[in-house]
Amino acid sequence: PSRGSRLQEIEAFNEEFANRPDNMRLVNGVYEIPVVVNVVYKTTAQNISDAQIASQIDALNKDYNATNADLSKVPSNFQSVKAGNTNIRFVLSKVVRKVTTKTSWTTNDAVKKSTGITPTTPTTSLNIWVCNLSGGILGYAQFPGGASATDGVVIDDNAFGTTGTVSAPFNKGRTATHEIGHWLNLRHIWGDANCGNDQVSDTPLHNTANYGCPAAGHLSTCTGKPVEMTMNYMDYSDDACMYMFSAGQKTRMLASFATGGGRNSFAKP
Ligand code: ARG
Ligand code: ZN
Ligand code: CA
Repeated sequence: PSRGSRLQEIEAFNEEFANRPDNMRLVNGVYEIPVVVNVVYKTTAQNISDAQIASQIDALNKDYNATNADLSKVPSNFQSVKAGNTNIRFVLSKVVRKVTTKTSWTTNDAVKKSTGITPTTPTTSLNIWVCNLSGGILGYAQFPGGASATDGVVIDDNAFGTTGTVSAPFNKGRTATHEIGHWLNLRHIWGDANCGNDQVSDTPLHNTANYGCPAAGHLSTCTGKPVEMTMNYMDYSDDACMYMFSAGQKTRMLASFATGGGRNSFAKP
């Protein structure tokens, strides 16, 4: 129950923040997020290289700074709502590696405990665990407002970065872009329900998740029959077919850094 009311407070705060643009002013203009990458492996292939880790950090910085080359593919109908630079930057601070006897992991957070690797300074560092996830799961995230001991995101070793053991069609680092979107309070674009609400006003209604590489102009059957934003990072399209956040999503992510926001411990003056 206390977690429920905390989540409600965060929602109320987000709404207030979005309506007060003066709150958008940042102290140094950029939120720098120290990143700890925890590599939990059984096979030598799962012990991914430093180069693969660097490729993921690079992809994140491009996506969050709107310098990803494929941003130019955003169709004309969404040009006016595309986010631009979020002013969020990811800086690798440490790589922790551990060999285990476990063949694969699930979404039960065992990888974040002593069976795997416990997080480093989770209130001031984004912890990313890279491991073999079972059942075709590419990754999962903890939203703001949860326990520090399990805070961060988990990414499958074959969906992490853009080189090494990464495997198409999830080979552009976008699983981490998507999961960190959740970590910064973004919901799935379809609102996890048929024509559901993602609490972002400039993203269209979607019937459900989109997979693969949907054709341009894909229409929803939701109220108003809007064109779906299938190229949004918070959909489920293939990595090559997701390349934008909306301006409203950017506001929602930045709200989490402000006083009262769920990621305020990451904001340094
Ligand atoms: N949590 C989602 C899953 O595991 C991640 C989807 C990421 N999508 C992507 N194109 N990388 O299914
Ligand atoms: Zn998701
Ligand atoms: Ca929306």
